[in-house]
Order: sequence, then structure tokens, then C-alpha cells
Amino acid sequence: MAVSWIWLTLIAILASFWLHRLTKKKKKRLPPGPRGVPILGHLHMLGKNPHQDLQRIAKEYGPIMYMQFGLIPNIIVSSPEAAQLFLKTYDLVFASRPPHQAAKYLSWDQRSLTFGPYGPYWRNMRKLCTLELLSNLRINSFQPTRREELGIFIESLKQAAHEGVAVDLSAKVSSLAAELSCRMVFSKKLTRKFKALGKVFDEFLEKVIDEHVRAGDHGHTKDIVDTLISIMQSEKTEFEFDRRHVKAIMLDLLAASMDTAASTIEWTLSELIKNPRIMKKVQKELEEVVGLERMVEESDLDKLAYLDMVVKETFRLHSVAPLLLPHYAMEDCKINGYDIPKGSRIIINTHAIGHDPNVWTDPEKFIPERFVGSDIDVRGLHFQLLPFGSGRRGCPGIQLGLIHVRLIVSQLVHCFDWKLPNDMLPEELDMTEEFGLILARVNHLMAIPTFRLQN
Ligand code: HEM
Repeated sequence: MAVSWIWLTLIAILASFWLHRLTKKKKKRLPPGPRGVPILGHLHMLGKNPHQDLQRIAKEYGPIMYMQFGLIPNIIVSSPEAAQLFLKTYDLVFASRPPHQAAKYLSWDQRSLTFGPYGPYWRNMRKLCTLELLSNLRINSFQPTRREELGIFIESLKQAAHEGVAVDLSAKVSSLAAELSCRMVFSKKLTRKFKALGKVFDEFLEKVIDEHVRAGDHGHTKDIVDTLISIMQSEKTEFEFDRRHVKAIMLDLLAASMDTAASTIEWTLSELIKNPRIMKKVQKELEEVVGLERMVEESDLDKLAYLDMVVKETFRLHSVAPLLLPHYAMEDCKINGYDIPKGSRIIINTHAIGHDPNVWTDPEKFIPERFVGSDIDVRGLHFQLLPFGSGRRGCPGIQLGLIHVRLIVSQLVHCFDWKLPNDMLPEELDMTEEFGLILARVNHLMAIPTFRLQN
């Protein structure tokens, strides 16, 4: 009897030892993060400005953090080094987008480039966009359109300057950016309809395609829809390409280009009006490069080194996509000793990186001069400044986006001096942010222009 007890005890000890090893092997070492609550996970910790909440929480738990929003696992990335691991070293693992019902509905069953999952279809669409629609040659072909629209825009502001009234710069810049995008994609100004969703929206895009098919090669300069239709009709693509794809790409390009550029311009102008010393310095550079006898031309842009720093500093302080777009782990992966489970969403907090005192001196101050003698740029090679993301999913419209931002900002500050209404002092300008898909100003930027050119 005593012997069988000894045997039983021995077997129990061995079994528990074996079980312990087995469970230890299976248990994942997730990145650190706050304690969640049932069902919600950590959702209750996020308020109106999640980029700021996540920045605060990361100060306690570190640059690679695990949080659950509902049942969905999220990895929050908040330092340049960590961002480099996810967007460069292990880029391929995280190059997909999470499945999303709304995106699925709006983008014709995930045919979209922006929300589509990583795979051969996405790679083909991305190649098509980069080579056919957003190449330098194609961007340059829209230069006359940009000049014409900007001319009309400046004339309308001259009228306000003449009357000495304040203009709603936020609204004005937003509609100019929308006009530029619509004219480039389908040669029309029907912009307000893009705010509508669902069936009406689909019908509208169908109508645009019909009109282009009917007009053939005649009637207007070649826009992006013309190019897409000729690709569709040539039947030469190695992948399925029909009207649904044309609509998805139209929507991608319009949605991605309008608000991003407008919001960047709005923040740049806000900072310039708030900081008169910097505004004067930009205007002085423009006087030297362009002169007061004419407006800015695109060919001037490369010579405006200080303006370039001002735009970079705006991107740092007010990233318009502070959490980029979510990436998605296509397989289990180990990073810095942590297990990143397949199916996690990867959220890169560029707001936290841009405001980190370990990365930037005086991060809350607007100091364009910090870029003097620095090779940091915004194209995704420097992980401390990622307004366009980086790697496979980085923005393919960087070149066009930068042209829109630099051209419109430089034109506005070259042609006009700006004053705040109601004798408001520059330092009193409210800079409160509102989080959405794009980080916008809560209050529209209102200012009074005075024309400053000599004609
Ligand atoms: C100042 C202007 C712009 C900013 C700040 C901006 C920023 C971004 C960001 C942060 C992403 C996500 C990157 C990631 O998830 O890692 C993105 C993606 C994208 N952007 Fe832009 N963008 C701008 C202008 C444009 C323009 C002008 C176009 C095209 C006409 C464009 C087309 C796209 C597309 C198609 C994607 C999705 C790429 C993919 O998922 O593969 N963007 N952009």
C-alpha cells in the first residue's frame, strides 16, 4: 500500500512538472501594458484624443505596448527605434491592413489600395498607382491645372484683402485641396458630393466613368480616370480590373489626398501666424528667391530651404495622421523578446514620437531651425519623423502631397500678410486639436489678408 502511494505521488509530481513546462512553452510573452477590464479591454482608457492618451500610457509601459480594444489585440509603438522594427526590419509581417467592415463596404469589397489586405492583388494595384498615376511625369502634367486653380484662389483672397475682411482659411484651403484633387482625378469640380456615402456615392462615380467613356480621348486633358479606363479597356492587366477597381482607386486617391494636404496647410499657416518671427523669415526667403513682382512658381520650390524646414516642423508637431493607418500582423512574430500575436493591429504613434523629449529638444516649441544642418527628411527613412509612414505601406502620394503643401503655403504667405481678427494677438491663437481620420483644428483658422505683391 505504502509503495503504491509513493508511486502515485511521484507520478503526480512528474505530471505537474511536465504540465508546467508545457503551459510555460505555450504562454506568450506579450509586451507590457496596463491591466484591462472584461469585454472592453482597455477601450475605457481612450478619450476624444486617443493619440494623446496612448502617448501618456506609453510613458509608463514603454515604446512597445500591448492593449486590447474590445477583443482585438493592439500593439502600440511609440519610439523611432521600435517604429523601425515594425516598419523596416519586419515590414513584410506587418504590411497588411486589418479587416474592417466599413472599409469593406466603402471600398468595393477591399479592392482598395489603402484598406486592402497585403497580397498579389494589392501589390499589383500599388504598382499601377505608383507607376501610372503618381509618377513624376504624371504629377508634372497637372502643373497647369494647379497654376490655374491657385490663380483663381489668390484672386478671391485679393477681393477679401481689398475689403479688409477676415477669411475662413480652413474652409478655403480645404475646398482648394478638394478642387485640385478632383480636377486631377476626373477633371471636374463636383466636390461636395464626396461627403455623401453609400449608394449615391457609387452612382456618382459610375456616372463619372460613363461620361469619360463617352467622351473618349477628346474634350479634355487626360486625367486619372482616363488612364484607368484605358487600362481597363486594354484588358492587358495580369489581374482582374473592371469598373469596381476604377471606382476603388478613384476613391483612394481622392480621400487620401484632399484632407491630408489641407490639414497640413492649415497647421502650417496657424503656426506661421502664431509665430510672426518665423513668418517674416519665410517671407524674406520668398522675396529673395521669387521677388515681389510675381507669384510663386513650382520651379521656385526647391530653392525654398527655410520653407522646407517650416513644413517639416509642422509635420513633427501636428502629424495629420498621428496613428498612421493601422497595420496588421499576418503571422506570429517575436520582437525585442516579446511575442506579437498574429492578428494584432499595429498602431504607430507618430504624435508620441514627435513630442518625445528624448528624441527632440523642446518638443512642444515650433522651431524650424532645429533642421538646419540635419539630414532628417519626411520620406520614411528617418523614423523620428514619419508623417507619410514608411516601408511597403508608406504613402505613395508623398511627392504630390509635398507639392500641394509647399506651393499653397508659399503662395499664401508670399502674396499676403496675415492678421488675426478682433485684434487677437498671435500668441492667443487657439491650437486645440481634434482627432479623426485626420488631425484637424477644433476651431477654423480665420485671418485678414493684406496683399503684398507689387501688381
Ligand atoms: C500631406 C499630404 C499627405 C500625408 C500627410 C499623407 C499621409 C499618409 C499616411 C500617414 C499614410 C499611411 C501610411 C501607413 O499606414 O504606414 C498614407 C497612405 C496613403 N496615401 Fe497618403 N498622405 C498625403 C498625401 C497623399 C496623396 C496626395 C495621395 C495620392 C493622390 C496619397 C495616397 C495615399 C494612399 C493610396 C495610401 C495607402 C497606401 C497603402 O495602404 O498601401 N496620399 N498617406
